[in-house]
Amino acid sequence: MTLFKSLVGATALAATLIAASASAEGYPERNITMVVPFAAGGPTDTVARLVAESMSKDLGQQVLVENVGGAGGTLGAGRVASSEPDGYTILLHHIGMATSATLYRKLAYDTLNAFDYVGLVTEVPMTIVARKDFEPTDLKGMVEYVKANKDKVTVANAGIGAASHLCGMLFMSQIETPLVTVPYKGTGPAMTDLLGGQVDIMCDQTTNTTKQIQGGTIKAYAVTSPARLDVLPDVPTATEGGLADFQVGIWHGVYTPKGTPADAIAKLNASLKKALKDENVVARFAELGTTPSADADVTPEALKAKLESEIGRWKPVIEAAGQYAD
Ligand code: MLT
Repeated sequence: MTLFKSLVGATALAATLIAASASAEGYPERNITMVVPFAAGGPTDTVARLVAESMSKDLGQQVLVENVGGAGGTLGAGRVASSEPDGYTILLHHIGMATSATLYRKLAYDTLNAFDYVGLVTEVPMTIVARKDFEPTDLKGMVEYVKANKDKVTVANAGIGAASHLCGMLFMSQIETPLVTVPYKGTGPAMTDLLGGQVDIMCDQTTNTTKQIQGGTIKAYAVTSPARLDVLPDVPTATEGGLADFQVGIWHGVYTPKGTPADAIAKLNASLKKALKDENVVARFAELGTTPSADADVTPEALKAKLESEIGRWKPVIEAAGQYAD
């Protein structure tokens, strides 16, 4: 009986492995879910939908964005980490993958061992913005005002581990003033409250703030890029505004669950590369203050190296701030 059971077990395992490799050969044969670990309407969602739309055309299957917000992006990342490694669930995430590895000491997944890598996507500058009737007229005055009203001023972010949280943390440490933070499931919903005046300031990516700044519906104090942006020529850099060394770029990458068939990853990588050369994607990125990653960086190796180096870079910064999620 034991021999029979082990033969049945081996046959079942072989069938599963054949099925998995077979699906990779014909991959993709059905829709692909691209998990965005933040609410719809925010910067990560904006980048993802542009890339997903282009990849859908290329792959001949729908790449459908699913927003899984919460806990600074870690709920969405965890969802993908525990998904079938068959190439039909992928993750588009950003620097939060690296910061959360230190900020969350009880993560549901092992950041460096739960994912395979497809490639980098883009690195987006940030902007320090406020509700449009916020009194200060420049960054220097804003810092003075915030310091003098530290118990009153509210800072929106997308939860501990989000890019908006990281930028806000750097801002508060630079001005040596802790502020009241208001977490959201993404800076899409946070922007709604900023526009409505329910929250005072935010540090968010240009992919979410450029149109609002250009339209005058929010106030911009600085960009966190080394130089001013073509799309926001009147917004000084943080360095110009007196915050030296305040440069933050939010890199984004595409991941799959660990164990995804290599030829599925190769097809995803080829499609991602094409999407980042798609003239509509390039044009929309440019309108929103960013550019696609260089071809040499849209590789699994480049994303893996970026994640590893960024975990190492932010670990001491976060430990020095002593701010953890749990
Ligand atoms: C963040 O990290 O702040 C996210 O980019 C917010 C978002 O994409 O909604």
